[in-house]
Amino acid sequence: MAQAQVPLSAADRLETLARMIRACSRCPLADTRTNAVPGEGSPGARVMFVGEGPGQVEDETGRPFVGPAGQLLDELLGSIGLARADVFITNIVKCRPPRNRAPLPDEREACKPFLGKQIQFIRPLVLCTLGGPALAVVGGTENSISRQHGTVIPKRHYRLLPLYHPAAALHNPNLRSTQFDDIKELRRLLDMLEGEGRGASAVT
Ligand code: URA
Repeated sequence: MAQAQVPLSAADRLETLARMIRACSRCPLADTRTNAVPGEGSPGARVMFVGEGPGQVEDETGRPFVGPAGQLLDELLGSIGLARADVFITNIVKCRPPRNRAPLPDEREACKPFLGKQIQFIRPLVLCTLGGPALAVVGGTENSISRQHGTVIPKRHYRLLPLYHPAAALHNPNLRSTQFDDIKELRRLLDMLEGEGRGASAVT
């Protein structure tokens, strides 16, 4: 007798995807990486954070945002009552670009399907991009992050909230207070969307 198919959980799908990412050789970043960094966090997260690409510590550990920028991200999350375990954190490219240069267009394109699948499996209410390159890839907009940060963009399946990259405040400490202001918009959005259920009906 045919066995009933048990649907795979989001956690199973993400784990299968993470194995594919670790084995990936779609672009030249595979030749220079130590570890691919698929991303980590809750498979049922209401919020996803998408950064630019792994840095040195992330390449060494295989984990996203565990270097100095990650410490600031943890502080920002904590300021609105969230922990890393509540969210899912990943990047537009899963392998470190040499000397932390910005990911090249071909590298972004090669990695884009992985991010698309992660969004599809997690189905976040809010997706926060960190920095200009992540906004360009996820939002499909070349509008500068200095104009868009903290402003919600309704997408078909989630709200997009562009944020400055945490590393920006490491270079320009004046941005720190802006980042703490912008993240309050995430708290406001979550409180609002949780009040109205999964919130999908209200997005365009
Ligand atoms: N910067 C990023 O964009 N991503 C990381 O994972 C770490 C630093």
